[in-house]
Amino acid sequence: MKDLQIGSAEHRDLFCRSFVETHVPFRPEEIRWPDLDRESLARLKALPVWNEAVRTESETALKVQTLGNVETDPVLAEAISLQGYEEGRHASVIRLLTRHYGISVDPFPEPVPPADPVGAFLSTGYGECMDSFFAFGLFAIGKRSHFFPDALIDIFEPIMQEEARHILFLVNWAAYLRARASFLGKPAFDFRRTVKIGQQVLDHVRHATRMGKSGENQQEGFTMTSHDSFGDFSLRSFFELCLSENDRRLSLYDSRLLRPKLVPASVRFALRVLPRTPRSDQTSASGQANLTSGS
Ligand SMILES: [Fe+2]
Ligand SMILES: [Fe+2]
Repeated sequence: MKDLQIGSAEHRDLFCRSFVETHVPFRPEEIRWPDLDRESLARLKALPVWNEAVRTESETALKVQTLGNVETDPVLAEAISLQGYEEGRHASVIRLLTRHYGISVDPFPEPVPPADPVGAFLSTGYGECMDSFFAFGLFAIGKRSHFFPDALIDIFEPIMQEEARHILFLVNWAAYLRARASFLGKPAFDFRRTVKIGQQVLDHVRHATRMGKSGENQQEGFTMTSHDSFGDFSLRSFFELCLSENDRRLSLYDSRLLRPKLVPASVRFALRVLPRTPRSDQTSASGQANLTSGS
């Protein structure tokens, strides 16, 4: 296969075309929400994610749409605007779900458009790289443990896959921008990106620490905390599951495109230093078995 030069028009066309062509059209208003038994409904309501999810998706939609509006390259603008539309659709789906099942969501201030759309997209995108990686694992656990009815899982499957497309787009877009920057622009871009990633890491650590300490802000810490709800999983088996799900979801796209590396590499490193316990080996083995059986 012909090598792809990062930063070339061919690279841009490939990551934008691959994004646009894999968009799945659906209207949130047409979703048929399944009836839930009392236990499933209680589980759904108890998930500590709804406030955070509606607010984050709404803010992300505006950030991405703002960049789509100011991007002057029509090929990039089309793909970024489509991503902004998908983020807005995520917010709508979650709003409709909470309304349908009677889950209360706290009001939050209207998000404001970012003054620096490129910086906001970088920051949001790398935050998504962290959230999505762990969300893929949580979603797989929820699916195979039948924590929720399959009909509800099926509604969220395309949304999970959209997040995979978003992070794939982000890393290629960032690499494209960097490759096209001037000699002095490259280190400036690297510095800016490192700062944004560092801020996201700090935000995530702060979130997790706050959750661990207080336990009172049950709506925060979307991916960090909800894995507690799914039963007896060791950290090792959870990390392994996240890695395999991440690889599986991203394997659907052109192999010449860049993949997110930072979180998977950090987790692979953690797996090397995490102690192996008999329980983790056991859950890890059964986790892999379940995954390969196609659940
Ligand atoms: Fe989203
Ligand atoms: Fe996203």
